[in-house]
Amino acid sequence: MDNFAGHSLNFETERLGLRPFEDTDFDLALPFYEDTDFLLVMEGQLPEESITGEYLRRAGEAMTEQGFLFAIVEKSSGRTNGEVCLQWMNLDRAKIANEKTMRIPIGIWDKALWGKGYGKEVVRCLMAFAFEELGIDRLCAMDVSAGNFRSVKLWRSCGMKVYRRMDNGNTLDFEITRMRYESMNHAQRA
Ligand SMILES: CC(C)(COP(=O)(O)OP(=O)(O)OC[C@H]1O[C@@H](n2cnc3c(N)ncnc32)[C@H](O)[C@@H]1OP(=O)(O)O)[C@@H](O)C(=O)NCCC(=O)NCCS
Repeated sequence: MDNFAGHSLNFETERLGLRPFEDTDFDLALPFYEDTDFLLVMEGQLPEESITGEYLRRAGEAMTEQGFLFAIVEKSSGRTNGEVCLQWMNLDRAKIANEKTMRIPIGIWDKALWGKGYGKEVVRCLMAFAFEELGIDRLCAMDVSAGNFRSVKLWRSCGMKVYRRMDNGNTLDFEITRMRYESMNHAQRA
């Protein structure tokens, strides 16, 4: 299969596998992006053009140029059921001179799989890789809708804090610094 992501990283958590995103994965993703609610939380706003495989590929290309795009695979069923990218920060408002900052857009495609702890497994796994192997200073979740309670809870439960409020508090940027990540891990080990 075509390794669209252009990297060869694979990770395994208790219930999930993360593998390089492949070209054929866009066809699997498309039906879920046709759901307006999903599209809205993933894109932040409804795009003017209609969502096609080509649209998703263009968005995917930007992510692969800026980081590591993964498909999320449920181990028990073997189903590919989501996407996540560990992406170097591409928004000026979150860039800090001499700091290595990344962001982590994530989407679990099938609503039936939400709320089972999968999101947390993925974020914790990539957070550890980013801080411990890539040596980043800061990990962010950008443009989170304050009304997306599941997402807000996910970032908080992974130790992130609201760093920036925009749009009268309706849109939030979350972040965790290296110092906080290390103190959280230290507390867990103690
Ligand atoms: C956001 C998303 C990645 C979260 O993943 P998930 O697997 O559903 O979330 P988890 O089951 O790991 O739960 C994470 C936290 O949210 C809580 N949570 C789960 N379902 C919830 C709900 N319906 N309401 C409030 N909190 C909820 C969990 O209890 C957990 O917190 P805890 O560890 O303190 O108990 C996933 O729901 C998704 O892909 N949604 C659509 C796309 C999206 O919103 N992406 C993020 C854009 S910023």
